[in-house]
Amino acid sequence: MSVTGARPFLKPILESPGRQRRHTLPASEFRPLNPQDAISVFEIEREAFISVSGECPLHLDEVRHFLTLCPELSLGWFEQGRLVAFIIGSLWDEDRLSEGALTLHKPHGHTVHIHVLAVHRTFRQQGKGPILMWRYQQYLRCLPYVRLAVLMCEDDLVPFYKKSGFKVLGPCSITVAHLTFTEMQYAIGGHALMRRNSQF
Ligand SMILES: CC(C)(COP(=O)(O)OP(=O)(O)OC[C@H]1O[C@@H](n2cnc3c(N)ncnc32)[C@H](O)[C@@H]1OP(=O)(O)O)[C@@H](O)C(=O)NCCC(=O)NCCS
Repeated sequence: MSVTGARPFLKPILESPGRQRRHTLPASEFRPLNPQDAISVFEIEREAFISVSGECPLHLDEVRHFLTLCPELSLGWFEQGRLVAFIIGSLWDEDRLSEGALTLHKPHGHTVHIHVLAVHRTFRQQGKGPILMWRYQQYLRCLPYVRLAVLMCEDDLVPFYKKSGFKVLGPCSITVAHLTFTEMQYAIGGHALMRRNSQF
């Protein structure tokens, strides 16, 4: 049979997995990440950071480390089952960041250190970064032990985070290779709300 003749018979077979995917995978889903998501996370990081500056906020082993220790402080945005944007955080036990915050998770801390927010290249400039950050901030409000979220970013991203309600704390004491950062902070209102409600 010629290739052309075979096409009608091949077509349904080739299309059926696609159809199945559409039925089984939600169009859009937000959920905490887990260690199995580490490769997808790192692929986005590789393009977003390493190809630009040679550095990235979290290397693959660090992604796995935090997604094992504190998956509940991460949030992934999946479309048709594909990771399109994510945030990874861990707990820190001081208000300001220092070197140890890059690698440590302090389970009794009250500050969420946001290590990284990144959107897959093909999904940028669609408002996804701010939306994901907003959902993450709402989620953190439900965690009674969280008082602050802090992050370090390069100067050109300061306006971006200001729009999400972060305030500038000043230069960050951490430097990575030749890169310097501004430290920013967001106060989580959840614990105040819980205190008010607990009176009744
Ligand atoms: C930065 C990033 C998270 C923004 O997400 P996004 O979904 O593409 O954001 P949007 O394009 O919808 O932009 C929202 C606003 O941020 C601004 N913005 C987006 N990327 C920016 C950047 N790299 N630098 C400065 N401002 C930026 C936009 O101009 C826009 O401003 P506006 O509201 O005045 O129009 C995304 O571009 C990304 O993943 N970049 C690579 C990784 C990175 O740098 N992460 C942040 C450091 S951890």
